[in-house]
Amino acid sequence: MSLLDILYYPDPQLRKIAAPVANVDGRVAGLVDNMLETMYHAPGIGLAATQINVHERIVVIDVSDEGDSPLVLINPELLASDGSAETQEGCLSIPGIYETITRPSDVRIAGLDREGNPFEMDADGILAVCIQHEIDHLDGKLFVDYLSPLKRNRIRKKMIKAAREREEDEFDDDE
Ligand code: NI
Repeated sequence: MSLLDILYYPDPQLRKIAAPVANVDGRVAGLVDNMLETMYHAPGIGLAATQINVHERIVVIDVSDEGDSPLVLINPELLASDGSAETQEGCLSIPGIYETITRPSDVRIAGLDREGNPFEMDADGILAVCIQHEIDHLDGKLFVDYLSPLKRNRIRKKMIKAAREREEDEFDDDE
């Protein structure tokens, strides 16, 4: 297994719409395993393939306290949603930023698991939020898109500044 590089907002690659996985084969299973390792290492509770610059509809999630309950969603589809909940969201592609976002509180989804078996499930609470956040990634959407343009622009500038500082640190290390 190996750790994958995570793209940071406002990288334009994060805006790409991911294509459905045609065949859940060994390549996809390997990708899923690397995504899980990358998510746990970060650490995070969800990661979409888009965030590692792979534009296929693959998501990994683990909202458990122990980090021992991985959920793999391939070609996830939102079948139904209901209710409303405010949650403070963050994103591995937008490190250090947390904002309160309103989304449906209950969802029903369909998808394929790591072995390619179809399944449906109901989710609520943080899991429902996480599923919606990750499916958004596959459609090129980020949680900052739910904020006002003013707020989003402020975050954008902050991220660009942070990227510049990371580059300068790398330059210093090279000397
Ligand atoms: Ni995210």
